[in-house]
Formats: sequence, structure tokens, C-alpha cells
Amino acid sequence: MGIAEGTAQLNTGALIPLIGLGTVTRNLNDEEIKAAVTTSLQVGYRHFDTASFYGTEHALGEALNSAFRSGIVNREDVFVTSKLGNTEHDDPIAAIKNSLKSLQLEYVDLYLIHWPVKMRTRILFSQPKEEDFLPLDIKSTWQGMEQCMETGLTKAIGVSNFSSKKIEDLLSYAKIPPAVDQVEMHPLWQQKKLRECCSKHNIHVSAWSPLGAPNNPWGSNVVIDNPLIQEIAEKHGKTRAQVILRWGVEQGVSVLPKSFNAGRIAENFQIFDWSLTLDDHGKISKLKQGKISTGQKFVNSTTSPYKTIEELWDGEI
Ligand code: A2P
Repeated sequence: MGIAEGTAQLNTGALIPLIGLGTVTRNLNDEEIKAAVTTSLQVGYRHFDTASFYGTEHALGEALNSAFRSGIVNREDVFVTSKLGNTEHDDPIAAIKNSLKSLQLEYVDLYLIHWPVKMRTRILFSQPKEEDFLPLDIKSTWQGMEQCMETGLTKAIGVSNFSSKKIEDLLSYAKIPPAVDQVEMHPLWQQKKLRECCSKHNIHVSAWSPLGAPNNPWGSNVVIDNPLIQEIAEKHGKTRAQVILRWGVEQGVSVLPKSFNAGRIAENFQIFDWSLTLDDHGKISKLKQGKISTGQKFVNSTTSPYKTIEELWDGEI
């Protein structure tokens, strides 16, 4: 366990690999997703992140099961995360069973509440309407998540996109504490307050969009194009993506970069045999902060539990 081994330990005792392949995509087909997963397995990735919302569980499951059959890896060698969709809060057991069916797996290693938001309809990338929102009851959703773990359908449970306040609220009634909070995190959104809270409660943090999602409509190139990142990359003879991902794992979080390009999948994995300096960390820690993905679409003044973005993130934005 540790950066040298490429893993961190969850509060369940299980090890989570520090780099995982993110699989959300807007326009790839199943064959391209399967190819990316197969390449990742060959390169050495053992951690894959999906969600019912992404529509990639089936392709991921096909690629993993094909690798199990051909003996490239065993089921227990890979760490698979999926997430409870916003429309699935009423019945986490039924939801995880659907995910497992798509994944062709008997269990996932981690199952997360995707957003602290409950919706009537599955909205992909557009703006939800007022009637799409339902009243949120995280306490009862969490009880369902606990049942998912108690019945062995997942080895660990956690949350995603939860502020420190939402974590503290959850801990006040949880029988099983969350093992992970998966959030946007990169050098321009370092999540210092949330990570302090999670560290205090032995909750591991995973970083989604660790590169800031360059060249994506929901992301930005500001992280990868940051001049300081460029300067540090040149100094170490590494790429900017490698500096950003190495910074993440040196902060103790697991990083979930998405790539469907074989060269970049391999590049992103080369972050374990070199390190950043204290000086690099000092400079990166001073970068001006700004969240890229604000969750604006989950905010409205009538039916959403959050009237403003500040309410969604409990002021932590
Ligand atoms: P591609 O699939 O063409 O490699 P994030 O993980 O922060 O959400 O960012 C995902 C985006 O970053 C994807 O569009 C991916 O494009 C791109 N990407 C992934 N790895 C790299 C890299 N090493 N260098 C530049 N862009 C990358």
C-alpha cells in the first residue's frame, strides 16, 4: 500500500489502485470503449470507473469478462466502481443489480451515490426541467446503499460530489461510513477543505476529471495548459498530463483520467517511477482556484433542493 505500490487502503481494508480509467464518454461506441479497456489492462491499469448514467457498463463488462476468460487478469485483480444514478435513489438494490447485469459481474468493488440529487427522469447532458426534480432523502438512500454492501453486491460504498458538510451529515446517521468521496479535483481545484474532512474521517478521495477534461464541452483546457504545469513538466522531462496525475497521487488521492487513445492511456500510467519536488508542490499549492464543473444544471429556484450553486456545494465553491 502506498504510492510505490500504486494503491491506497480504504476504511474497509481493501486496496484501491491509485490510477483508474474513467469511462464517461459522449460519442464513442461500445467497440471503442472495449478497446480502451483492453489496452488499459495490457498497460497495467487495474481500476475502472463507470456509472449507470454513463451507459458504458456493458462495454466495460464485456472487455473485463473477455480478459478474465483469456486469463489476462482474474476478477479479484481488478477494482470496479459503479454509481447509483439520480433516478435510482428509491431502490439501490435493484439499481446495483441492473449495473451488475450490464457489467456481467457478481459484485462491484465500490458503489457510489453519483450526485446528492434525486430526479424523476434520466437526463444525459441537457438541462433538467422543473418537473424532473424529486425531494431528496439521502438518509433513506444511504440505508439502501448499506443493504447493497450487506448483501455482498458491493465490497464498499461511498458518495460522489458531496461537500464536507454533506459528508458530516451522512456520518451522523450512517451505520456504515462512506469509504470514498469521488469529486472533481486537479491543481486548479485542489479540494483542500474536503480532503481535510475526509482525512479526519478516514474517507478516501478519488479525483474525477483530474486533467480538467480538456477538449470536452463540459471541461476546459485551463489545467493542462497552465504555464506552471508546463514549466514543471519541462523540468522533469514529463508530459503535462503526467505532472497533473502525479500531483494527484502525491496528494494521496486516486486519479481517474479518461482517455480512449492507446498512446495517452499508456502515457497517463507512467507516473510511478519519478516524483515531484517540494518546490513543485509549493508552487502548485498557490495556484488560483476555480471549479470547472459547477453542477449548475442541478440548481433551480423552485423544485431542486438547491436554489443556488453555493447551496449545492454548501458554500465550498
Ligand atoms: P483522449 O480520449 O483523446 O485521450 P479528464 O480525465 O480530466 O476528464 O480528461 C479527459 C480528456 O483528456 C479526454 O478528452 C482525453 O482525450 C484527454 N486526455 C487524456 N489523457 C491525455 C493526455 N495524456 N494528454 C492530453 N489529453 C489527454
